Amino acid sequence: LCARAASSLIASIDQGTSSSRVILYDAVTLRPVASHQVELQSATSNPQAGWSQMDAKRIVGTVTDSAAAALAAAGASASDVVGVGITNQRESTVVWDKRTGEPLYDCILWHDARTATTVSALADELGGQDALRATCGLPLSTYFSGVKLRWLLETVPAVKEGFESGTALVGTVDSWLAWNLTGGAGGRATRHVSDVTNASRTMLMNLSTCGWDGGLVRALGVGAAEGALPTIVSCAEEIGRAPLTGMIGDQQAAMVGQRCFGVGEAKITYGTGAFMLGRPRSRPRIRSLTAAARRYALEGAVASCAVGINWFKDSLGMIGTAPEISSLAAQAPASTAVVVPYGGFGVPEGTEGLVFVPAFGGLLAPHWRDDARATLVGLTLAHDKRHVARAVLEGIAHQAKEVTVCMAADTGAALTGLRVDGGVALSDELLQYQADLCGIAVQRPRDVETTALGAAIAAGLGAGVWSSIADIPSSGDDIERTFEPAICEEERTARCASWQKAVESSFGWARE
Ligand code: G3P
Repeated sequence: LCARAASSLIASIDQGTSSSRVILYDAVTLRPVASHQVELQSATSNPQAGWSQMDAKRIVGTVTDSAAAALAAAGASASDVVGVGITNQRESTVVWDKRTGEPLYDCILWHDARTATTVSALADELGGQDALRATCGLPLSTYFSGVKLRWLLETVPAVKEGFESGTALVGTVDSWLAWNLTGGAGGRATRHVSDVTNASRTMLMNLSTCGWDGGLVRALGVGAAEGALPTIVSCAEEIGRAPLTGMIGDQQAAMVGQRCFGVGEAKITYGTGAFMLGRPRSRPRIRSLTAAARRYALEGAVASCAVGINWFKDSLGMIGTAPEISSLAAQAPASTAVVVPYGGFGVPEGTEGLVFVPAFGGLLAPHWRDDARATLVGLTLAHDKRHVARAVLEGIAHQAKEVTVCMAADTGAALTGLRVDGGVALSDELLQYQADLCGIAVQRPRDVETTALGAAIAAGLGAGVWSSIADIPSSGDDIERTFEPAICEEERTARCASWQKAVESSFGWARE
């Protein structure tokens, strides 16, 4: 980063599950100029098993603080900013009072599993987990906003009263931020909007029309909130003062940042969860949604990525910082039991038969099991924390591998390479396991913060800095490292078979 004010800047607000961050980009070169990040762990609480919620006011406060600090670091002022883009954790749901701007409940986070009973009741009532999929592209799951809204309506009296009296608004985090940044309570130009990518993650949007769907609203039993939903806007347009010119869900933003615009291209972002998005035609096992510019993408979502690493660090206290898990995993001694000949030398299985399935709040794609819980299997007295560290990283890679298999089945074409990004993609060990398990090259860009870059691109398009995708400054030769597979097919098959067995043992452990 260079600490100088550019003549004009694009501000990218990246509001994630673990932190809020603002990155300022030079509007001509699209190079980062300054950034600031505030962690959100202290704003997050888990009041019951499987519950995860966040102080919604802190979400806004950390964004505005980060913006002020990033501008100060750049020696710039708000008037230097020609466009602001919001990218955000998706599905997480907020209801607030439009007269006061006060949230009526904490923001229920995307991976919260409190709605498991609601979801199974809805599946029974509507005719199965895929009953609404033809319209909204999504299976019934605790993951999506519509069922969180139903829980809020049924459980929090102030929410029900707010909708009945017309004083409450509901939205995902993009809406909550846009409403606050364009004026908030009493603001003359306050906008209540959501972009099409975020709206597509609620189960309330019709994928064909890109509008709210009355049938979906009724099916999910959230009719009382229909008038409180935001207006759906595109990802790149003049939305409101700030100047807010871009809004895009974080996974779709990463896709834009990676320039995955062509059919057949795919990326995985390793963040709190891990999310693979690709541009093929749709088939049932992977869930479809809209990406930027009315292009459609397939998505496979993995709930636990950094979640598992943070559990290893904070709950077990095994390491002091998250990146240490990689060096610890690399120390896992070679197995004497599992050595498969490959290319003239033995390839050890470093976990020595240990498998960790990080299903803390259930499993998403391709299993969609709300009843699964995290499972560590294969322990012997020979294992220590080095093996567990490796099993935690391999658990991420195994989940992502399963999604690549579904993606390939959906596209009818095997993936030939995989682009990766997100903070956890800085782990060389993880990416080597990923390449090994997938049997394809894994490419890491120099700048792994492609989510923020994607929102900057959306904001630049919305502000008219560029008139089309073709005008966006090229990222040039941006691959920092390619990880090639280093195990044979026999070893790969054996590891995947162990994983499948472990996944099956994770089912059915959720308590009613
Ligand atoms: O769907 C959830 C996703 O948007 C969360 O992203 O980066 O906060 O893990 P992240």
